[in-house]
Amino acid sequence: MNLGFPLFPEQASTMAPKVDALLFFLVAVSVFFVTLIFFMIIFFAVKYRRRAEDERPRPIEGAFWLEVFWSLMPFGLTMVIFVWGAIIFVDIFSPPNDALEIGIVGRQWMWKAQHPEGQREINELHVPVRQPVKLMMTSEDVIHDFFLPAFRLKQDVLPGRYTSLWFEATKAGVYPLFCAEYCGTQHSGMTGRVVVLEPAEFEKWLSGGATGMSMAELGESLFQRFGCAACHRATGTSQGPSLAGLFGKTVELQQGITVTADENYIRESIIDPRAKIVAGYQPIMPTFKGLVSEEAILQIIAYIKSLSAPERKPSQR
Ligand code: CUA
Repeated sequence: MNLGFPLFPEQASTMAPKVDALLFFLVAVSVFFVTLIFFMIIFFAVKYRRRAEDERPRPIEGAFWLEVFWSLMPFGLTMVIFVWGAIIFVDIFSPPNDALEIGIVGRQWMWKAQHPEGQREINELHVPVRQPVKLMMTSEDVIHDFFLPAFRLKQDVLPGRYTSLWFEATKAGVYPLFCAEYCGTQHSGMTGRVVVLEPAEFEKWLSGGATGMSMAELGESLFQRFGCAACHRATGTSQGPSLAGLFGKTVELQQGITVTADENYIRESIIDPRAKIVAGYQPIMPTFKGLVSEEAILQIIAYIKSLSAPERKPSQR
């Protein structure tokens, strides 16, 4: 149905029809009950109106089965909404393992994107169609919010930690990107666009304007420049734990607890190295707070990840 003006953004991701179906169900349930209650108020107001000055209504004791019905019926209905919503929620936050990973850094007032191959862009995000894409997002300053209406996705972008989002675009095209969290004077101007390309065109876009170095390679050069390699040697006999094969593993800490070596853990270990000390090591690592940009941290994480995937050598493309 084309009304001449768009009531809804295009459905351009695998998530969009699922989110819309739930929304339409909620609207249908609301319309049904609003209509029912509206007409029943009028009907009962007329039917049970006071007919005489001395009229006293007959006292009502209660109706057991009627009360059971109007308690259980809304309960069942809200459970349907809850389970349906929970399934979509879990889906939104469970990226497939083969997702293409792109780093996003928000700041007042722009969006910066960084592809694994090394390409960077500002206020634009080029992605291939029919391919799951996972965004690893953080902010340099205040809270922003990455909002893609055509994909029915929205996620806060926070300073000091990573949040992520994944999508699979279903249609090639250009879709708007907004910041959906008030973040200062130019908040309304913190917009961009997502360009969804056919796989062949995406490859062409990737190869044009290439910096020559992948994110992992850039991360490796930072790793050398900051002298990380002096302590974090692959042999494991050095002053710091080896980082080879670290990503995604469970790490045992001094306090006897364990953590998973994910993006947030590695980021924290760079910015605040004493927050979590690996069992058997001394808290001697200096902080790199203020010395590395958020984009550089994403590159170092990409390098550390590449150390866990021997089949994908970071030096080869
Ligand atoms: Cu960034 Cu609003």
